[in-house]
Amino acid sequence: MGKLLRLDKYLSDMNVGTRSEIKSWIRKGRISINSIPCLRPEEKVSTEDEISLDGQRIIYERYLYFMLNKPAGVVSATEDKRDKTVLDLIDTDRRKDLFPVGRLDKDTEGLLIITNDGDLAHRLLSPKKEVDKVYYAKINGRVTADDAEAFLSGISIGEDKPCLPAKLDIIKSSNHISEINLTIYEGKYHQVKRMFEAVGKEVIYLKRISMGGLTLDSLLKPGDYRRLTIDELKQLNKITLREKEY
Ligand code: URA
Repeated sequence: MGKLLRLDKYLSDMNVGTRSEIKSWIRKGRISINSIPCLRPEEKVSTEDEISLDGQRIIYERYLYFMLNKPAGVVSATEDKRDKTVLDLIDTDRRKDLFPVGRLDKDTEGLLIITNDGDLAHRLLSPKKEVDKVYYAKINGRVTADDAEAFLSGISIGEDKPCLPAKLDIIKSSNHISEINLTIYEGKYHQVKRMFEAVGKEVIYLKRISMGGLTLDSLLKPGDYRRLTIDELKQLNKITLREKEY
């Protein structure tokens, strides 16, 4: 049997109305448990019970998980005085406790997970988990095998410790603009830009294409989002719940 919780809490978690609206609906007999009207807000229900308002089923879904293709120009925050935030892009009446898992810079595009599952977010962001993040970037100037070697041996970006070894794949190298994929296992502030700065180069376009084995859906245009599938969620849990292998 699923977890037991109060009827009014169940309805409030699902954001169907304010606390006082919910109380009043219950008193008026508009809420049913397994087709039987229930007049007690404190009645204990489980997620296996069928709860309905005026005959309309309200399914309990504690956590929401979205994959967003973050566009450039919006900030990775829940609210901001000046700028549009990634949360402004998510159209749901249950957005009150949603937040982005980590940050992408304002000018960075790509994969950002939006959820209200603090536990999963914590695991994905924990330095101990060393969750892989893959970025596609365009770089001003020629990216070389020496850069790849420097990144692989752990480059210093002016912090106490050097970066963890990172994998640089050169897609196209030219004196003008190079294209690369870079896999990193941590999330230091402006990390990709600072790693290239450390080898005297500049990132001119940056997009995260994958995180924790979850790949950005190519059908999502910048600003678009969709729910994670069960398999994608399992993948994120698998990668963050396993013991670190040495
Ligand atoms: N590294 C950066 O420099 N910026 C980002 O947004 C993400 C990683």
